[in-house]
This record gives sequence, C-alpha cells and structure tokens, in this order.
Amino acid sequence: MAKRIIPFGVIGCGLMGREFASAAARWCHLQNVDFEPRIIAACDANPQMTAWFSDNVPHVRRVSSDYQELLADPEIEAIYCAVPHNLHAQIYSDIIRAGKHLLGEKPFGIDAEANRQISEVIAAHPKVLVRCSSEFPFYPGAFRLRQWIEEKRFGRIIEVEAGFWHSSDLDPNKPINWKRRVATNGEYGCMGDLGMHVVHLPLRFGWKPQNVRSLLSKIVPERPDGKGGMAACETWDNAILACQAQQDGQSFPLTLSTKRIAPGHANTWFLRVWGTDFSCEFSTKNPKQISFLPYTPGAEQAWHMLDVPYRSAYETISGPIFEFGFSDSILQMWAAFCDEVVNRDAMQGPFRCATPEEAAASHQLFTAALQSQQSGQTVSLA
Ligand SMILES: NC(=O)c1ccc[n+]([C@@H]2O[C@H](COP(=O)([O-])OP(=O)(O)OC[C@H]3O[C@@H](n4cnc5c(N)ncnc54)[C@H](O)[C@@H]3O)[C@@H](O)[C@H]2O)c1
Repeated sequence: MAKRIIPFGVIGCGLMGREFASAAARWCHLQNVDFEPRIIAACDANPQMTAWFSDNVPHVRRVSSDYQELLADPEIEAIYCAVPHNLHAQIYSDIIRAGKHLLGEKPFGIDAEANRQISEVIAAHPKVLVRCSSEFPFYPGAFRLRQWIEEKRFGRIIEVEAGFWHSSDLDPNKPINWKRRVATNGEYGCMGDLGMHVVHLPLRFGWKPQNVRSLLSKIVPERPDGKGGMAACETWDNAILACQAQQDGQSFPLTLSTKRIAPGHANTWFLRVWGTDFSCEFSTKNPKQISFLPYTPGAEQAWHMLDVPYRSAYETISGPIFEFGFSDSILQMWAAFCDEVVNRDAMQGPFRCATPEEAAASHQLFTAALQSQQSGQTVSLA
C-alpha cells in the first residue's frame, strides 16, 4: 500500500519525546494504514537529548536547541511536543501559528489562562490539526469498554470511577524534578500531570462533570534537590474529585482520582462503569484482562473475566493472543493522529485523539477543584 509520509519534528526529547521516536521506528507493526510519520528534526534545550535522536533515529537531518528553527523548516508538516507545562502556551501557540499540525502533550497549558491562550490561537488557525496526547483509551481493554458504551449496553449508569495512579513519589529520597514545582508543573500538581488521562474517556462519552468537591493532599513536603540539600515539594501529590455527571437526564456520581502516591501502583490507569444492565472494569494493572457483568433482573450476578485479544484502533501484525503494552498504546495514538492529518473526517480508524475542547474542559474541572479545596465547598461547573 502506498503510504503518505508525514515529515515530523519533535520538540522536547525527554521521556516522552524518545517514547514517540521509538513508536515511529516500529511503524511496520501496523497493517493497512496509508500514512507514516517520519521524524526529520528534533529540538531540545539540552543538546544531550537531541544527540540521542541523531544517534538513533535514521531520518533526522536537523537537531537544534531552538524550536523556531523547526518551525521555519518548510518540509516539517507536523510536530509532536513534549516539554514542561510552563512552556506549553508559548511553544504550542508558535507551532500552530507556523501552520504545523500539533500533537501536544497534556495538560495543554500550565493553567486555565495558558489553555485559553492556546485555544485562541487554535480558533484563529482552523486548518491546523491540534490534538492532545492521551494514549490509554487505545489499550484493547479500554477500547472494548468504549465499544460497549457506544452500543449503550449499560442501561442506567449507577456510578463511574476513573483513576490514574503512580507510586514512585512514596520514596521521600526521590529527588525533586520539574513535575513537583509549581513554576514548571503548575498549581494543579498531580491533576495537571495525570488528569487528562483520567477525564478523556468520560468527556468523550459525554459525561462532563457538572460540579466537583475535591480532596487534595500534599504528603511529602520536601525532597532532595540533587545538590546535597532539600527543596520544597510544592505540588499536590494526590487528588480525589467527587463529581456529578449526567446521562439521558439522570445524574450519577463520577469519581476521578489522580495520585502520585498510590502505594504499589507504577502506572495504573483504570475505568470502572457500573450500570443497571451491564458493568465493566478495565485497569492497566492487568492489561490483558477486562471484567464485565451483564445483568437481567432476577438473574445471578456473575463477573466475567476475559483475556481481551490484542485489538485496538488499527490492525497490527501481532497475533490476538499477545499482550499489549504502553508503547503499543503510543503507537496506536500516533496512528490516530496521522490518520486524522491525512484523512481528516474520513479517518480510517474509529477513535480520534483527545481534542483541544476536551483539554479545555479538563482545565475547567481542575481550576474548580482548586477552588473547592480552598473553600471546602462543592463548586459548580454548569
Ligand atoms: N502521555 C503520557 O503518558 C505522558 C507521560 C509523561 C509525561 N507526559 C507529558 O509530556 C510532557 C513532557 O514530559 P516528560 O516526562 O517527557 O519530561 P522530560 O523532562 O523527560 O522531557 C522534557 C524535555 O523538554 C526539554 N525542554 C525544556 N525546555 C525546552 C525548550 N525551551 N525547548 C525545547 N526543549 C525543552 C527538556 O530539556 C527535556 O528534555 C509534559 O507535558 C508531560 O505532562 C505525558
């Protein structure tokens, strides 16, 4: 199949920038797609990070510490950008103004004002495709759950819980990094860091929080600064957001949690939906398994456990019995973005990446959650 090559630049070559480069390197894993990204340029403020791209990514012909050089390169059609949150507003806006399609990392701005600035630039450049990174919906278990929601299997929703939990910050000796500082990660703390992952599918299903009562915790007050001293650890470690959402005019509780300190959870993303006709739960803790309970009144209530086949949005060479992992979800998400760049509303795949509107809704929620923490009251989002 002839493939349309999309020349990409990567801005921010750290943890996520390299994860993306590695996903592009195994594009042959995908079958029957008529597009392919090609990373031809990389930018990072730290030259050691771009050196990895020069050494490992075959088509890279330009590396730079100045992202404007990538934006001035007419061959680059799209950018993947993964930089600290305080840089999102400026760099994302410049990328869009330069006419490059953007797959940007969450949270799409350090706070609501930064997000508003990005949204304004997006509105002024309607031909530029802008999407926000969120890969967990591409796990086969999450994908299956999404299909069941679309098929309206659940009946009346009883309640929904979604979460994204990490645990490495339980170690008080873990040195501080930009994600624990307000200046670089933002006042949202763990919500800005992890929250888009949690709200993406609920928002996509139309379950927009109407109000929020938040419980935010700071657990480790300071951390080694890497220079022999200690530094204040300013950001919220954990957040529990109790919200109300609606489906078909009926309210239900929607509990969203983002935790940097969830003992034993390395990168656990989960979604649990209980309904009167059907209930279902998927967690990346057991990435092969999805649990579900179909119910008819009076019948026994038995949970079914399914080893869900390796099937996501785009066909792959993997046999259905093989296991799916984080890097597979990045590959699938990148395919969805490229699919939309090339095919727009006639996408081959069934699921578009998180939209700027969904990112903006997450900012509205996290801002209200900060207000709720301060006042101790429920804050309306209506
Ligand atoms: N989708 C996910 O699962 C996921 C996971 C982790 C992080 N993230 C997001 O990705 C983004 C980056 O996080 P990370 O973990 O990769 O961080 P990181 O610290 O590993 O990488 C960030 C890189 O940006 C570079 N940088 C800083 N200023 C720059 C500038 N002016 N120009 C160019 N490069 C610059 C840094 O040198 C660093 O290499 C954040 O928005 C974060 O929330 C997403």
